[in-house]
Parts: sequence; structure tokens; C-alpha cells
Amino acid sequence: MAITDDFYSLLSTTRSIRRIRDTPIDQETLERVCQASVWAPSGGNRQPWRLIAVRDRAIKEKLSALYVDEWAKYVDYNIAKLGDQPAEVIQKVRAQFGTGTALAENLADIPVVALFVHDPSALYVTDAGLGRHPVVGGASLYPAVQNFLLAARAEGLGGVLTTLICSRESELRDILKFPDGWGVHAMIPLGYPKGNHGPLQRAPLNTMMSIDTWSF
Ligand SMILES: Cc1cc2nc3c(=O)[nH]c(=O)nc-3n(C[C@H](O)[C@H](O)[C@H](O)COP(=O)(O)O)c2cc1C
Repeated sequence: MAITDDFYSLLSTTRSIRRIRDTPIDQETLERVCQASVWAPSGGNRQPWRLIAVRDRAIKEKLSALYVDEWAKYVDYNIAKLGDQPAEVIQKVRAQFGTGTALAENLADIPVVALFVHDPSALYVTDAGLGRHPVVGGASLYPAVQNFLLAARAEGLGGVLTTLICSRESELRDILKFPDGWGVHAMIPLGYPKGNHGPLQRAPLNTMMSIDTWSF
């Protein structure tokens, strides 16, 4: 098989893994995955981010307490959006969040919880001041996060890009000891999956891509 086939197969099966074994990840494997993050591009090659790979159970328990709170708020928000739906519909939707709830509650059992932190002052935000929410700053940060997930997939590991905990920045600073002024932009619980990788559910290409001008 050509390397491109392997590569596209890897891309098309890298989905969120929330059910994770407690099997340890050896240091060399972890470092290969983290190295993939470091290879990611950033504006001006400033690499304005760092990665903290948490293995310590006491720290993971503190992260879990914060994440459980934020996950519960997210579930309640989604349930509230259902309005007056019948109880069985609400029950069904709540059950769909069950895997995420279990992940939040058992975060301390996950072998590695990777926290990605960044220095906002080093971001050159080219879409600031346009009267809408700027997003370009994140373009110097999330390629490293995605490289991490793809390298994890290549190693047979799985994880999920989470952001709900990011609102708890000051508590995270106390726990993880990163500098004042820095922020958190992602948390990835990482380990060997209980289920399978892939397949993905995504919109068809022709609804996402056009040639020359907008044609949607
Ligand atoms: C910006 C972003 C934030 C996300 N935050 C969370 C999160 O806090 N918790 C979570 O369980 N999943 C989170 N996800 C995972 C998405 O729910 C998931 O990628 C999406 O539903 C597609 O599912 P798949 O990755 O399995 O294909 C996030 C994904 C992205 C890209």
C-alpha cells in the first residue's frame, strides 16, 4: 500500500475517543506524539504554546473536578435547548452524553491528560478589529493540537480535543503553575481506546468545497 493510502486512512479514522483504557503509555511513545505537536507551524514560527502532559493522579483529580462541572453545564445547556420535548427524547439525548460524562468523572484514570497553554501576547491576530469575533490567533495554536491527535492515532492511541475546561483558567494556573498572562486552549485525555478508531461522520466534500468562487 502506498504511504498516501495509509495517511488518508489515518485522517479518515481519527475520531474522538472518550472511552480509554488505563493501560500506561510509555515515555518514548508519549514523546513521539508530543514531538508531532512541536512540528506544527505557527505564525512567524513563534510557537507561542507549551504542552503539559499530566500523569500525576492528584493533579488529574483536580482537573477532573473542574471538567465535571463544565461538562455538566454543557449537558444542561443542550438539554435546555430541547424545550418541551417528551421525557423519553430528553432521556435519550442525556444518554448520548453519557460517554462524555463518564470521561469527565474518570479523568484521573486516563494515563495522560495533555494540557495545551499559550501566550496570547505572542499571537499576531490579523482579523482583530473587523467587528466580529477574531479567530486567526487560534491558527498558531490548534495545528499543534491536531498533530498531537493524528500522531496519537498513528501510535494506536486515542483522545479527544476538549475545550470546556478552558474557562477555568485561573484555577488551572494554580494547579499547573503556568505563568500569569498565559491561557489554556485545549485539554486532550490520551490513552489506548476501549473501542475502535473511525469512521467519521462528516458533510460530503461537495457541500464544503467550491472552485474559484463561493457556490454553496
Ligand atoms: C474546538 C473543539 C472543542 C471541543 N470540545 C470538546 C469538549 O470540551 N468535550 C468533548 O467531549 N468533546 C469536545 N470536542 C469534540 C467534538 O465534540 C468532536 O470532535 C465532534 O463531535 C466530532 O466527533 P468526532 O471527533 O468523533 O468525529 C471538541 C472539538 C473541537 C474541534
